[in-house]
Amino acid sequence: MVFFRKIFILQLVGLVLTYNFTDCDFGKIRKKYQEVIYQALNKYMNGVKSTEFNNYIYCEDPPDCLAKIDLITFYPTHGCTTLAKEIFAIRTNATLTLQCPGYSGTQINNTQAKKKRKKRQVTTNKCREQVSHLMELWRRFSRIS
Ligand SMILES: *[C@@H]1O[C@H](CO)[C@@H](O)[C@H](O)[C@H]1NC(C)=O
Ligand SMILES: *[C@@H]1O[C@H](CO)[C@@H](O)[C@H](O)[C@H]1NC(C)=O
Ligand SMILES: *[C@@H]1O[C@H](CO)[C@@H](O)[C@H](O)[C@H]1NC(C)=O
Repeated sequence: MVFFRKIFILQLVGLVLTYNFTDCDFGKIRKKYQEVIYQALNKYMNGVKSTEFNNYIYCEDPPDCLAKIDLITFYPTHGCTTLAKEIFAIRTNATLTLQCPGYSGTQINNTQAKKKRKKRQVTTNKCREQVSHLMELWRRFSRIS
């Protein structure tokens, strides 16, 4: 269990984020999460419980949670090329854009990732797994922020 969690976190750390979330207004972001993002994430899961997936995802503090949320929401992974067009992602982007000074959309410096971004795709199980990670990170963020 610990082994898989480590791999997942290493994958996240391996990507270069150019934005530091320390100066975001966490209170306002938490409020938006509770008002509109939580609901959109649930809708995306369409009744599939996030407990069906192995959620070995963890974040240290509010900026770390937001960095990981940003990464999973906007970075295409194998088997789930884009979540960025989903309603929860659009709301996440809008919220971070408003509450994080200088933030402007996805912050990964990876031109390859941008090329691979496609239109909205059918929901795959891999995507649901990614979204279950997101729910876990958001839950933790709202507990500790
Ligand atoms: C973000 O900035 C804060 C304060 O300037 C610093 O303590 C922290 O290590 C930085 N985080 C990252 C991931 O660079
Ligand atoms: C995020 O929002 C900004 C400002 O509205 C927009 O320019 C950008 O394309 C959006 N990014 C994504 C990944 O949706
Ligand atoms: C992204 O990476 C390229 C090459 O590695 C570099 O030239 C560019 O300045 C970087 N952009 C940002 C926003 O860090």
